Amino acid sequence: MSGRMTLPSGAAGARILGIGSSQPNTIVTNDDLAERVETSDEWIRDRVGIAERRIADADTTVVDMAVEAGGRALKDAGLTPSDIDTVIVATCTMPSPIPNAAAQTADRIGISAPGAFDLNAACAGFSYALGTASDLVRAGSARHALVIGAEKLSDWLDWQDRSTCIIFADGAGAAVVGAAGSDDRIGIGPVAWGSAGDLNQMIRIRTENNALFQEGQAVFRWATTKIAPVALRAIELAGLTPADIDVLIPHQANLRIVDSIAKRLRSKGAREDMRVADDIVHSGNTSSASIPLALDHMRAEGRVCSGDTLLLVGFGAGLSYASQVVVCP
Ligand code: UT7
Repeated sequence: MSGRMTLPSGAAGARILGIGSSQPNTIVTNDDLAERVETSDEWIRDRVGIAERRIADADTTVVDMAVEAGGRALKDAGLTPSDIDTVIVATCTMPSPIPNAAAQTADRIGISAPGAFDLNAACAGFSYALGTASDLVRAGSARHALVIGAEKLSDWLDWQDRSTCIIFADGAGAAVVGAAGSDDRIGIGPVAWGSAGDLNQMIRIRTENNALFQEGQAVFRWATTKIAPVALRAIELAGLTPADIDVLIPHQANLRIVDSIAKRLRSKGAREDMRVADDIVHSGNTSSASIPLALDHMRAEGRVCSGDTLLLVGFGAGLSYASQVVVCP
């Protein structure tokens, strides 16, 4: 006779308990890049919106940045490593496929034997990982999950290619996810995610030089037409309206894409006073790290407050996209 299986009972909802981030110290300005490739500060600011970015030195790894960001998120949540049972690192820039970043990161933070895995959805990675962590908590598979977006894109660039080396940068951002208590507002809404695998060649690593390539204009058109509807879907799934959104934090790919998404949401009822992340100006495009970096920086600047309703939307290689509404801890 076979036994009857039981399932854990999960939480009614999940929420973000703390956030943190990490960036390398070295600032690379547009003028610095103009010494290496034919470009200008004016072109980069006008076409992409970046003024400067942070680039890690040769000895700093994806895991180093993940450890720092994760440790800070843990402290912000008021938790200790022993409280964490799951670690997810969203990354697409590890030096090799194995070992993964999550188990090393957990070990260095001092988290003992957690479920630990990497998730590759490129620039949509943080929203994918946050959605996954939220559902693990709701299902009862995890109690506290540490979710980190960490990237060292500088290792995967052709520094002679002006169409990419001026855009991408390094950094990490993290969030601790746990149960929403019965008195709490649900803190992480349902994820609206998807992919367009037929467009997979639009952003890829070229095998000839192991460097990132993107069809810039085609990705730009895709992002400015397809991503706002994904964000609107996330709002709808959360049972909210665009007017409920206090802060929009899209992946920081290009300030013109950020502005276009904000404009589209406002045409659908988002408020004029909705704050919009512009972290790309000083951080560049850090792929899966860009959303949590922007969130952490905006909170430090007082532009995001506890209890604000935030709309996150990530998009990039895959092509992949994901969006959810979250409440700021
Ligand atoms: O994060 C993952 C998702 N990625 C994205 O969402 C990226 C989406 N795409 C973009 O953000 C933009 O397409 C780029 C920033 C990549 C490029 O901007 P663009 O306005 O689309 O420029 P373009 O590629 O159409 O190039 C316009 C001109 C070209 O010269 P010609 O052919 O008109 O003479 C380029 O060769 O600008 C030239 N160019 C540059 N000039 C100065 C390209 N890169 C540079 C540069 N400096 N760095």
